[in-house]
Amino acid sequence: MGKFPKGFLWGGATAANQCEGAWQADGKGLATVDVTPFGPDRFPVATGYMEMLDCDDAHFYPSHEAIDLYHHYKEDIALFAEMGFKCFRLSIAWTRILPNGDDAQPNEAGLAFYDSIFDECHKYGIEPLVTICHFDTPIALIKKYGGWKDRRMVDAYVHYCEVLFDRFKGKVKYWLTFNEINMLLHLSFTGAGLVFYPGENVEQVKYQAAHHELVASAKAVKLAHEKMPDAMVGCMLAAGQFYPRTCAPEDVRAAQEADRDNYFFTDVQVRGAYPVWAKKRMERAGVQLCTQPEDDRTLREGTVDFVSFSYYSSRCITVDKELMAAENAEGNAVSASVKNPYLKASEWGWAIDPVGLRVTLNTIYDRYEKPMFIVENGLGAVDTVEPDGSIHDSYRIDYLRAHIKEMEKAVNEDGLPLMGYTTWGPIDLVSASTGEMKKRYGFIYVDKDNAGNGTLARSRKDSFYWYKKVIASDGEDL
Ligand code: BG6
Repeated sequence: MGKFPKGFLWGGATAANQCEGAWQADGKGLATVDVTPFGPDRFPVATGYMEMLDCDDAHFYPSHEAIDLYHHYKEDIALFAEMGFKCFRLSIAWTRILPNGDDAQPNEAGLAFYDSIFDECHKYGIEPLVTICHFDTPIALIKKYGGWKDRRMVDAYVHYCEVLFDRFKGKVKYWLTFNEINMLLHLSFTGAGLVFYPGENVEQVKYQAAHHELVASAKAVKLAHEKMPDAMVGCMLAAGQFYPRTCAPEDVRAAQEADRDNYFFTDVQVRGAYPVWAKKRMERAGVQLCTQPEDDRTLREGTVDFVSFSYYSSRCITVDKELMAAENAEGNAVSASVKNPYLKASEWGWAIDPVGLRVTLNTIYDRYEKPMFIVENGLGAVDTVEPDGSIHDSYRIDYLRAHIKEMEKAVNEDGLPLMGYTTWGPIDLVSASTGEMKKRYGFIYVDKDNAGNGTLARSRKDSFYWYKKVIASDGEDL
């Protein structure tokens, strides 16, 4: 195995809403995830087809306590340090800083909490990588504006960024503007606080919201560069190449179009303008973007420094309607796809495709020629705690090892510039799609179940010792 570049940022990634808990502590306001319940109503709420803007007693909300990182962060960061992390990707909860999303004065307790997190990271030489908005639009702004469908969200977001940059400029160098910005098209409430009402042109609402997020992202990049000349700001894409199910040209075209649903966003964030085909697509869908005269310039001036992405699996698509209908029958797949007969899948049906990571890295590099950062990768799996407390998660090690091998080839054989690799959920946390605790990604086990029972005690899985060895050998000892 070849080594990784000097300063390669090995680590792990989390999101505030999936691990912090303390949903109302110290003045925090409500965000989308706080009202997204566990159970059958989760998917309709997350996709924007069921309105739920408050909590009720009939539902269980996993984010409320999550793994209570809010009160365990010292212990958790110490465990990351024990594994040798060089980088910890986390998100800041917008409503901890601005409880209503646009308060003139920030909440000092929220700022102080993240100060402590960053100080704790730096104590161990861990570089924080901060996602400014990870699936947590403030509920107050949804009630006021309808979320990102309204242009005024841009100002609210930029104000939030200004507060963050002013406060944390000495402590945070790496920033991401929006987590998985392309998820807005699928998990529209989760991604952008959108709720759809009967008779609305759903596409119009989604693309208008996307435009607002893209303008906001560009403004944030520019502002970050002005306030923090050393900062590096990235976009963040839910990636994973679409493969054609067959080599029929129609399937190949379908895959190309499906990929464009994703690259639509990064094309704007990296190149600073909408691609021609995107305009045509919107036209065909009857979408008429409402823009401001200065938007073209804003997008042009706010291009990102690097491209980050999550990669869990590749996807497969066909024009065979029957096959598509049969395989998406349950109706809760985040994006429509069919099974790839050459690949095995996780217990949650996500195809396992390490080579696809190399394919995806190369595709993104060919498209943008920018430094890249894999900010999420991992296997959601059920773990068994043995009577002596040990957890033998060889399946997780196998998954990660295979992906790291392909990542190494992309770096050393293909020569691609890769800044780092942060696995998803280095400590077990709440699943974004299902709200489960049972879908575990961690090297660190957290004693908590789907219903919220457990002591929250942390323990090391076999993968903990394995990843420590991987980092210590800079990827040589896999
Ligand atoms: C990404 C998100 O979609 O994938 C994370 O950025 C999420 O928030 C992760 O947790 C894994 O998905 P899930 O549904 O297994 O939690």
